[in-house]
Amino acid sequence: MKITIIGTGYVGLVTGACLAELGNDVFCLDVDQKKIDLLNSGGIPIHEPGLDEVVARNRAAGRLQFSTDVAASVAHGEVQFIAVGTPPDEDGSADLQYVLAAARNIGKHMTGFKVVVDKSTVPVGTADRVGAALRTELDARGERLAFSVASNPEFLKEGAAVEDFMRPDRIVIGCDSTPEGDRARELLRKLYAPFNRNRERTHWMDVRSSEFTKYAANAMLATRISFMNELANLADQVGVDIEAVRHGIGSDPRIGHSFLYAGAGYGGSCFPKDVQALERTARQYDQDLLILRAVEQVNDKQKQVLGRKVVKRFGEDLSGKHFAVWGLAFKPNTDDMREAPARVLLKQLLDGGASVAVYDPVAMTEAKRVLELDLNAGELARVRFADSPMDTLTDAEALVIVTEWKAFRSPDFDKIKAALKQAVIFDGRNLFEPEVMAEAGFEYHGIGRSI
Ligand code: NAD
Ligand code: UGA
Repeated sequence: MKITIIGTGYVGLVTGACLAELGNDVFCLDVDQKKIDLLNSGGIPIHEPGLDEVVARNRAAGRLQFSTDVAASVAHGEVQFIAVGTPPDEDGSADLQYVLAAARNIGKHMTGFKVVVDKSTVPVGTADRVGAALRTELDARGERLAFSVASNPEFLKEGAAVEDFMRPDRIVIGCDSTPEGDRARELLRKLYAPFNRNRERTHWMDVRSSEFTKYAANAMLATRISFMNELANLADQVGVDIEAVRHGIGSDPRIGHSFLYAGAGYGGSCFPKDVQALERTARQYDQDLLILRAVEQVNDKQKQVLGRKVVKRFGEDLSGKHFAVWGLAFKPNTDDMREAPARVLLKQLLDGGASVAVYDPVAMTEAKRVLELDLNAGELARVRFADSPMDTLTDAEALVIVTEWKAFRSPDFDKIKAALKQAVIFDGRNLFEPEVMAEAGFEYHGIGRSI
């Protein structure tokens, strides 16, 4: 099938590359000329395991093209996926300007039937607004062309995006109950058929329920994390090991093991903004989502927990003190620094007067970019970007771990102890066992593990 993807970011690029891998002829559009030039010269703008091979293979096969040509992109696909960003507006609601701009472009250039699919995460009612934007453009041209707007939210995780897209737990699709909606349903059924061969994974529903499902999923996952973080903080007070508790409750199939890891708080481009956007939707209907407000507040506090532990141990005045920091990306296997807990930790340490040496296996370039925005010149001067995890340790009072990269899981503890000024580790991801660390001669501060 001929498919157009509008927006070539994390979701658009992965969707485009993976749909091309299934044999479709995919046109990826972006307004960012630099990004398109990079992709056309064989580069990949993001770190995502396996993506470079899928992109290279399908470009070489002529099934995947990248362009900024709007008219050509609209002409290409009968199915037009909108996968542009929906960042938070000033009030926390989803900013739909990019989605609506993409819709207007389709309306300006279409010459025949189109299925427009909202893949971006968008609030309930957005498909109606996309449809209205298209209709306005068509009316301005005096055209009465048919189209249908469907919803097909994306559930991939960064760091595992290709794997998630190619082996989805479920595919959620919302279509209208109109003749155009039926046509959209048939086209999308055909497009997603390869994913449903062994088991039907598609959940068909109405458009608004599909839009809502995406927010419900992210809000539920964020709630589990904040709930565990809150319990972990209490565990620290009462002498309980949150890891034992996690195993204990997770083995109840009604609870399950996933997304119960207490830590340094959730980051990334999605949970924080989607929790806020859902709260905002509720407020528009005079409803206060109390749980989600708490989820957000707990997370904001949680991002400060590691820094607070450092201050509790070393005092408010950290001037003259140096710390090693491992892990900057908001999670492993990505270079994404959006809402990363490491940014909050670094600000706390630098505010206290400390200096730091930081290391991340892939996010160093992105970290330099965002820290230049977060920090003033004086603070930035106290950050050293190290070449390796071990290179951070010299003269450090303690090691602080923020992201659970595999490369940090089995370090040489003797070397760490020898390099640090004091054998102290703050572990924001509970990578190690407190007893093992005590035996190895470390003072170990996990999250919810003060047993
Ligand atoms: P992103 O910022 O990485 O990419 C968005 C791209 O859209 C950018 O390259 C931008 O230049 C481009 N763009 C903006 N306006 C455009 C226009 N009018 N025409 C063409 N291109 C345009 O964003 P992302 O992380 O891919 O997220 C996209 C959407 O998917 C969001 O709604 C997000 O919530 C959702 N989502 C993201 C993830 C994720 O893991 N990142 C997962 C599921 C859903
Ligand atoms: C999340 C969802 O998992 C995806 O299903 C969804 O498609 C995506 O948001 C989105 O809508 O954009 P992502 O943000 O890429 O994916 O990464 P996650 O693996 O969900 O991690 C998010 C944050 O939660 C990370 O900071 C991670 O460290 C934290 N986390 C995760 C915990 O603190 N504890 C856990 O148990 C799990």
